[in-house]
Amino acid sequence: MEEKKAVLVVSFGTSYHETIEKNIAAAERAIAAALPDRTLFRAFTSGMILRKLARRDGLLIDDVPQALERIAAEGYTDVVVQPTHILPGEEYAKLLALAAPYAPRFAALRYGKPLLTGWRDYLEVARVLMEELPAPAEGEAVLLMGHGTEHPVNAAYAQLEYVLHDAGWDRAFVGTVEGYPALDQVLRRLAEYPSVTRVRLYPLMLVAGDHATNDMAGPDPDSWRSRLEAAGYAVSCHLQGLGESPGIRALLARRAAEA
Ligand code: CO
Repeated sequence: MEEKKAVLVVSFGTSYHETIEKNIAAAERAIAAALPDRTLFRAFTSGMILRKLARRDGLLIDDVPQALERIAAEGYTDVVVQPTHILPGEEYAKLLALAAPYAPRFAALRYGKPLLTGWRDYLEVARVLMEELPAPAEGEAVLLMGHGTEHPVNAAYAQLEYVLHDAGWDRAFVGTVEGYPALDQVLRRLAEYPSVTRVRLYPLMLVAGDHATNDMAGPDPDSWRSRLEAAGYAVSCHLQGLGESPGIRALLARRAAEA
C-alpha cells in the first residue's frame, strides 16, 4: 500500500481575509509546491483569530489538534509540520506541545524550522529583504516593524538589524510592537542620522493584519506613522506581509523540504 503523506502548514492566523489569501495561502502554496508528493493542510494557532473567523464569517479553520486529528483520520502516515511563524518563540513552542501527543498516530511526524532560527537564517532573510525592497535612498531609512515577545527569542530583532547593517543597509532599523526595541528606541537611533528625513515602514510579519494596519499605519496618534510624522519624518507605509515575498516563501518551502 502506498504511504499517504501530508504537509501541515501552521500559521498564527489573521482575521483580514485579503491578507489570508495574499500571505498565508501564498506561503502554503509555495510550501506545497516544494513537496509535490504531500497533500496540503492548514491550521492556525491563534484561538482568538479562529473564534473571530468562525463567529464573524462562519469560516472554520482547524487548530493544530483538529488538523492532526483530520490528517490521521484520513489515513496519512507521514506528516511534515511547517510553521510560518517568524521566530521559534511562544507560538512555536505551543505548536510543538500541541502536536507532540499525535506523534504515536503517525509513522513519521517531522517539523520544519521557523523562518529565523539559526544565525545563517538571518543572513538569508536579510539577503531576500535587500533583494526585494528598494535600498534606502539618500536621506531615507527603512524601518521594519516586528511583533516582539516576552520569550528570549526577542533578541532576534536586534540580530536582524545587526545583520542588515553588516550587509550594507546602515539605515535599516528593526523595532517591535510588543517587545524591545520599541519605537522609542528606534526614534532615538534615527536621530543619530540627521540626514534622514524620510522613513519607509514595513511589517516584519507574515501578514499585514491588525498590527500593520493599525499600530503601524493607522491614523491613531499612537501609531508608528503618526509618531514618526510628529517627530518630523515623511513616512510611507507599505502594507505587505512577508508572505507576499517570493524570496521569503522560497525560504519557508526550503525549511519544509529540509524537514
Ligand atoms: Co500582537
